[in-house]
Order: sequence, then structure tokens, then C-alpha cells
Amino acid sequence: MTLKVRKAVFPAAGMGTRFLPATKVMPKEMLPVVDKPIIQYGVEEAISSGCDEIIIITGRGKVLIEDHFDISFELEQTLAQRNKHNLLQTAQKVARMAHILTARQKEPLGLGHAVLMAKRLVGNEPFGVILPDDLVDSPGNPCLHQLIRVFEEKKASVIATQVVEGKAISAYGVLDAKPVDGFNGRLYEISNMVEKPAFADAPSNLAIIGRYVLTPRIFEMIEALKPGAGGELQLTDALRNLLQYEKIYGYVIEGKRHDAGDKLGFLKATVEYALQRPDLGPEFKEYLLSLNVEKASHGPV
Ligand code: UTP
Repeated sequence: MTLKVRKAVFPAAGMGTRFLPATKVMPKEMLPVVDKPIIQYGVEEAISSGCDEIIIITGRGKVLIEDHFDISFELEQTLAQRNKHNLLQTAQKVARMAHILTARQKEPLGLGHAVLMAKRLVGNEPFGVILPDDLVDSPGNPCLHQLIRVFEEKKASVIATQVVEGKAISAYGVLDAKPVDGFNGRLYEISNMVEKPAFADAPSNLAIIGRYVLTPRIFEMIEALKPGAGGELQLTDALRNLLQYEKIYGYVIEGKRHDAGDKLGFLKATVEYALQRPDLGPEFKEYLLSLNVEKASHGPV
């Protein structure tokens, strides 16, 4: 097995029910944060982490995602004719940023099942997984690259984690893990994982978030799973079984993660990313300050 992580898998076949009715027709992964679809943030992260092959797991109604990363001949021609060079560059950059492959998940049978759909395209190589609705804001230090550095040193799968205090931990997969030397105290060796435990039963405050570097053995583990509720195959179950054969590490990532698959998380990400934009930030900040939110929060503005 090579140690170079060249491929990144993007499970994007889910139904996005938390965002209905917006996602009835529109893929959740195409909702824009400021002016970029959520999934483009992840694709840019994978590329700046050294991946040159992007594998998107799509499903029914997800064709817009493929179109987004394709050349739009009419658009490019029109922008060129109108001398809109900056916009032309923006459109061209998206279409040429990566080698995009897709695999279809015919039914949304869980994250594990979605990852399994990439088996043929990944082959016998380690690979990254990016859940596109988790945005990680870490300028100059792409989240997936942080995991790849650990993978290259430890030669074992790595899961991104963040510390979640209090009862909110029950919304996550949680690690049972002990700290390991090096990596500024951010690295843990995992002994078990529990999906969405009650607060009292959580083995730690280390929550699994949507970035992984995995060895190809994970595919065997997913194939061996017995489907759970609703016929779903869960990635966490496959990872737990992988622990019988290989070490797995948890890495507390540097950067701020936003759950853009959730309405509140999406709004927070939009505000924070907009504030960071040189072309929008100053004016947007002024607008936010002018809202006098304390008063407005007691009722409609
Ligand atoms: P989520 O649970 O956040 O996405 O899965 P969802 O199921 O689309 O959203 P809700 O809960 O109904 O609102 C995380 C990622 O995994 C993908 C999703 O597209 C999302 O990007 N996924 C999930 C699949 O590709 N296939 C699945 O069967 C489930």
C-alpha cells in the first residue's frame, strides 16, 4: 500500500432532510455559503491538501453537483464576449480545479454504504473522506492535510475530532481514546467509538467530525457489516471493527468547524465567512452592528 493520499471521497448522496424545503430539488451540497456551494469549499481543501482525484458519491437529483465542476461552454463564451475577465476566471477555475470522478449510491443507505461506493475508484490506496457539509475554517492549514501528516507518520487511519463540552456531545460519534506523545497533544490512540451516547455514557469529550484518512481495509469492514435500522451501514461501526486489525488515531484539528448541514450552523458559517471577505466584510459588519440585535432578538426586526 502506498503512503501517498491522492484521492478524496465526498459522500454527497444524502437527502438533506434538515434543509427541506430548500433541498427538495436542490442538493444540500450546492447551497451557497456566501457565493460558493458548500461542496466547493471541501474540494478546494482536498486539492490544497495534495489530493488530485476527487470522488463524489452522488445519488438521485445530484446532477447539479457534477455540472458545477464541469465546463459551462455558453457561460464562458458569453463572459469572454462581454470582456468579463474576472468572472470568466472564476467560472473556469471551478471547472478546471480537479479531476472529478463520480460514483452513484442508488439508495441513501448510510455513510458507510456511501463510502463503500468509492471502493473501485479508490482501489488499494489510503484515501481521504470529506463530509461536504462540515466546513473547517483553517486558513493556510487545510484540515485534511493535518490528518494526512498524521497518517504519513503513523501509517494508520486518522479521524478528525473536536472537543465538545457538555450535553452537546450526545449528537456525535465519541472516541474512547488515550493521548499519544507528539503533535502538540492533539493526537489520541482510539480504543473504541460510541455513536451518539447519552451524556453520562460518553467516554470522552472528543467528537468525530467530517474528515477522515482511511486505509483501504475499511472497505472489507463495511462489506462485512450487518445493516442497522433502515438498512443503513454506518461508517463508525466499520471503523470500530477495523480496530481489531489496525490502529486508528483521533486528531483534534486546528481550525473552526461549522456544521453547515444544520440550519443554525449554516447561518453561523455564512456570517463568519462573509465577515472574512475583504469585498464584503467591512460593510456587512457595519450592517450587523446596525441591527441592534439585543432588542431585535425579542421579536421580529
Ligand atoms: P448527513 O446525515 O449530514 O446528511 O450525512 P443527510 O442525510 O443528507 O442530511 P439530513 O440529516 O437528512 O438533513 C453526512 C454526509 O453524508 C452523505 C450526505 O450527503 C452528507 O454529505 N450521505 C449520507 C450519503 O452520501 N449517503 C447516505 O446514505 C447518507
